Amino acid sequence: MNDDVQTKIEEAIKNPKNLGEMKDADAVGTVGSADCGDMLRMWIKFKEEDGKKVIDRATFQSFGCQTAIAVASVATQLLAGKTIAEARNMSGEELAAPLGALPPVKIHCAQLVEGALRSALDGDQAAPTPASTVSPTLRQNMENPSNAKVRVVLGRTNEKQD
Ligand code: FES
Repeated sequence: MNDDVQTKIEEAIKNPKNLGEMKDADAVGTVGSADCGDMLRMWIKFKEEDGKKVIDRATFQSFGCQTAIAVASVATQLLAGKTIAEARNMSGEELAAPLGALPPVKIHCAQLVEGALRSALDGDQAAPTPASTVSPTLRQNMENPSNAKVRVVLGRTNEKQD
């Protein structure tokens, strides 16, 4: 990974934005990676703006690598103000763009974020989306983080956004 991308990832994970469960979310999506076993959940809140339904806020929790956390952090910032169609059209590469071009071995980390976003947009519901692609162990870890044997990144949603 080039130094610039690595530095941006490190900066993003030092102070991840929009981290944590959103209690009043309109949509929730969860996805697991078959490549590495990592998992990411995204919550979305919509609002009306100029007669259109747009994303007000997006938050996330991750059982994943630093790159997935960094991508989710920048992606949730990018998503604010997007319509559902605009958000659905965003690729993992676009969601990760503020970090720079990810190396091939890390592309699936951005795809994890893309998958969670699509899962939330497709479900567009308050109840957690059944994570059919998530292994029972990962799902259990997400429901009971204190028992997890993987790195858990949970937190309260940042009240104030930059
Ligand atoms: Fe699995 Fe990054 S290594 S999401």
